[in-house]
Amino acid sequence: MNLPEHVTLIEVGPRDGLQNEKNEIPTEIKIEFIKSLKNAGFKEMELTSFVSPKWVPQLKDAEEIIRYCTDEHRNIVLTPNEKGVELAKESKCDSVAFFVGVSESFNLKNINRTTKESMASLLPVIRQLKAEEFFVRACISTSFYCPYEGRIHPDDVLTICQQFADAGVDDLSVADTIGMANPLEVFELFSQLKSRFPDVLLTAHFHDTRGMALANIFAALQAGVDRFDTSAGGLGGCPFAPGATGNAATEDVLGMLHALNIKTGINMNQLFKAVELIEPHLAGAIQSKQYHLNKRANAVK
Ligand code: HMG
Ligand code: MG
Repeated sequence: MNLPEHVTLIEVGPRDGLQNEKNEIPTEIKIEFIKSLKNAGFKEMELTSFVSPKWVPQLKDAEEIIRYCTDEHRNIVLTPNEKGVELAKESKCDSVAFFVGVSESFNLKNINRTTKESMASLLPVIRQLKAEEFFVRACISTSFYCPYEGRIHPDDVLTICQQFADAGVDDLSVADTIGMANPLEVFELFSQLKSRFPDVLLTAHFHDTRGMALANIFAALQAGVDRFDTSAGGLGGCPFAPGATGNAATEDVLGMLHALNIKTGINMNQLFKAVELIEPHLAGAIQSKQYHLNKRANAVK
């Protein structure tokens, strides 16, 4: 079986998780959550987004989060446009992620631009950021299914990834935004991406709407992917993708990877502590299996 010795997990809970949270979470709690996650060993994390506070009020404290949580590791901030890049530069960020939907309808709902408009405006910005030695990641949403348009053709994903790669991005994060992909579709798309973009980091980003995220991660591992976006507690979802639930839960992914003897450098007990810290502030319940197993085991002791 084709399994790597080491997998990198990019923790996206503070961004993908908290952008979709119904409760207003105090900035100090977010900062504690991020620091606690960092103590678990994550070297790459999406901390927050510079997006319109009218569209995503949950992340309106982005500047403070960056100020108090940036460390020597890779601290990524999402931006949808030129204004986001300006704010990221003012905050001295050195790692920026852009996000574009393969589906026009989704991109319009999420960013208020067509996919073509987004690409036309972002590609020169990315070239400039690369000239200034930024780390640039491109998140490609609705790479399998769109809540408005249905199945997405893999060729359309490859075309967008090619444009980003030509502009010099470091990392392609290819996303199943609404958690509809199945392991066969995942294996096929990631196999193509792996052979077409051997010099770009390739990350898989799965939402777990139908309980398929772990199976999809296993399929992506078989295709040679060794980087995954995951979210502590399984938090997450895009406010503009109806029906999408949380990301693959970091602790469940970690449980599977460690059972397969794949190293991650992440400490599970410290990860549980981070989830415990954020849990009382959330409107909904934590869904991840490993977290509840651990709680039950501790209650019996
Ligand atoms: P718009 O209304 O067309 O923008 O929204 P605008 O240019 O007309 O500006 C409107 C207001 O927003 C102005 O303020 C701007 O200054 C301000 P006003 O004059 O009204 O006071 N503004 C900003 N403020 C802060 N940061 C900015 C920014 N840009 C404008 N960067 C816009 C367009 C892109 C701003 C809006 O649609 C937006 O913010 N969208 C963000 C949507 C979002 O965050 N979605 C979730 C992240 S993507 C995701 O979760 C998917 C992913 O996880 C992968 C997957 O699972 O698929 C990555
Ligand atoms: Mg997402």
